[in-house]
Amino acid sequence: MGAVGALVVVEGLDGAGKRTLTDALSTALAARGARVARTAFPRYDDDVHAELVRDALYGRLGDLSGSVHGMTLLFALDRRAAGPLLRADLEAHDVVLVDRYAASAAAYGAARLHQDAAGEFVEWVRELEFGRFGIPVPDHHLLLAVPHAVAADRAAHRERTEAGRERDTYESDGGLQERTGAVYAGLAAASWVAPWTVLDGVAGVDADALAARLLGEEPVSARPAHG
Ligand code: TMP
Repeated sequence: MGAVGALVVVEGLDGAGKRTLTDALSTALAARGARVARTAFPRYDDDVHAELVRDALYGRLGDLSGSVHGMTLLFALDRRAAGPLLRADLEAHDVVLVDRYAASAAAYGAARLHQDAAGEFVEWVRELEFGRFGIPVPDHHLLLAVPHAVAADRAAHRERTEAGRERDTYESDGGLQERTGAVYAGLAAASWVAPWTVLDGVAGVDADALAARLLGEEPVSARPAHG
């Protein structure tokens, strides 16, 4: 690990098990002596969304709700605002684990557009977030891959068992989730922005082995994990 920590992003469909993986990975990294920080996007504890929604209502963001680009901009502004916090976390830790990042915007946004527009859109997201907004570039993406039907079952279960948990409009759209899974696979295959490791979210992930690889004891991208 160098002077600045590694930014490791966990991505996947709603219900893929990202939080469980992030918990286990965080514990495994700490057990190996790494200083670990975690964060998640969108940041529900920040008032930035409320502020942006107000902007949308007053017409300052145009027809936000129906616009893929408008919605994407809203999520991207949240990450831009978090940039200084992320940089401070990277200075003070060996690994910063992030549950969803710009790749979520690329995957969910592209899935809502016609397939022909997807390539251009994901490049627009890359330029907007890493170019124009200058948010920290990830060192690695972990894609927790599960069949969309499995993810949907888990998300529905969570909705039944977690008090106050309601599915958002993205989670309730099965077709969108399926297309999002396909875009994620394409981003991983193209090493979008940074290397990706595809993890089998059904078989389960060996968090300790993954932690060892992330800490440089083994190159992460050389041996993608399959459970
Ligand atoms: P969450 O359920 O992980 O809190 O995320 C809320 C939804 O927002 C989820 O369906 C994924 C979507 N999303 C985007 O479309 N773009 C983004 O940039 C982020 C962070 C999330």
